[in-house]
Amino acid sequence: MTDSNRTEPLYLQIADRLARSIRAGTLARGERMPSVRDLARQEGVSQSTVVQAYHWLEDARLIHAKPRSGYFVQSRPEPLPEPKASRPSGRCCSVRVGDLGREVLNLAAQQNMVSFGAACPGPEMFDQERVRRALTRVVTRQRDLLCTYPLGSGREEARRAVARHGLSLGCVLHADDIVMTNGCMESITLCLKTVTQPGDVVALESPTYFGFLEILQSLHLRALEIPTHPRHGISVDALQLALETQDVKAVLVVPTLSNPLGACMPVLERKRLAQLVAAHDIALIEDVIYNDLAEQDDKRRAVKSFDTTGHVMLCGSFNKTLAPGLRLGWVEAGRWSAPLRKIKDVQSGAQTAVLEVALADLLSQAGNEAALRQMRASIAARVDEARGLIAQSFPKGTRVTDPAGGYILWVELPGGLDAVALYEACLAENICIAPGQMFSVSPRFRSFIRLGVGGRWGPEHPAALRRIGALVQALLDAPGLVAA
Ligand SMILES: Cc1ncc(COP(=O)(O)O)c(C=O)c1O
Repeated sequence: MTDSNRTEPLYLQIADRLARSIRAGTLARGERMPSVRDLARQEGVSQSTVVQAYHWLEDARLIHAKPRSGYFVQSRPEPLPEPKASRPSGRCCSVRVGDLGREVLNLAAQQNMVSFGAACPGPEMFDQERVRRALTRVVTRQRDLLCTYPLGSGREEARRAVARHGLSLGCVLHADDIVMTNGCMESITLCLKTVTQPGDVVALESPTYFGFLEILQSLHLRALEIPTHPRHGISVDALQLALETQDVKAVLVVPTLSNPLGACMPVLERKRLAQLVAAHDIALIEDVIYNDLAEQDDKRRAVKSFDTTGHVMLCGSFNKTLAPGLRLGWVEAGRWSAPLRKIKDVQSGAQTAVLEVALADLLSQAGNEAALRQMRASIAARVDEARGLIAQSFPKGTRVTDPAGGYILWVELPGGLDAVALYEACLAENICIAPGQMFSVSPRFRSFIRLGVGGRWGPEHPAALRRIGALVQALLDAPGLVAA
């Protein structure tokens, strides 16, 4: 039944519940949906509300209408095998990342490139009109803002809005404990600067986001890669063993929709993780940048929600979900709040106040949850399409993740194919992908590629995915290009 305490429109509540049932397989593909009249009666809503919900599901390509027959669950792509759990060496090492990651990011942004290289949604995924209106409201109503020197940890209205946003992560946050930043990466850098010294060891997922490796390198920190499962993320058992045997100063994880795996830790493992870092009296730096993109509520819950001792430093931003152009992030640093604040003041001072107030305005507007749902649905349709194309066009033996949200696919190439060779073959045809080598301090992922499918999308993108599949086959057939 619909929940009268929720603020989003009734049709979205119904559509969201049905979408979850379809993705969970409760409503199987090809199955007929309840008739509009029956569902309206069952839910106690008007038929037009159900029609609106069905239109939304059609937009998300989860159902389709057949003339004079009703609505049916859309076929989802055939299941593909997923990559196996990772097994890094268990030894910490200093980080030396080359220029490959930056090269990929720069190429991915070029207009002539058909790009799967970046992990960022395209502009059409955002409600641009809402963002523009919020900014205009602020500039018109608070005319002195642009000429007032911004100081401190961020505008109070922005910090309050972030604290409210914390509720969706299952956390009770206080505006006074929040520091606004230039994005999640600045938040993470500040946390690492606060709790580590050069030479210290930081434990992180294997594979991990290459930007984290760049930060570790710049701060002269050593990386200890921890095994991960493609759907459940970091192994808390393996992390526990590492903490018992090595001198780890901090743990850096993305528990929801990690990059590049798209894994989500089960709730009980999140709780164990919070207890583990408290028992070892070390910091857990938790990146929640993708939590809003997870399809199910329980996957949005932060490890921080289980933190009773202040050992979790929570880092987020709105660059993937609301407006990347605002470039705003935040951190709630738990027991390290005071030293982190000092480092932030010295390092970069405050952000642009107009942008922070616009962010607060956007986060407080009623349409925010509806816009997020729309984004999740569009992304899910995109990911289904991409996985379907991979299933059809890549050679047998290819493995790919099935993330519970987000737009990143992690693909294991068959036959030990060298991902850099594939990257170069793709570039020659103006297609950009991210080779697996970027996501580890070791060459362990040299037969993997990351495909970001949330960016600009036209007819050339499905064609390019098919072409990548053909190039994989061609390289497999060409001697000398397969990794030793
Ligand atoms: C896991 C993760 N954290 C942080 C970032 C970057 O965050 P921001 O743009 O807010 O600095 C990215 C970007 O891809 C990411 O994948």
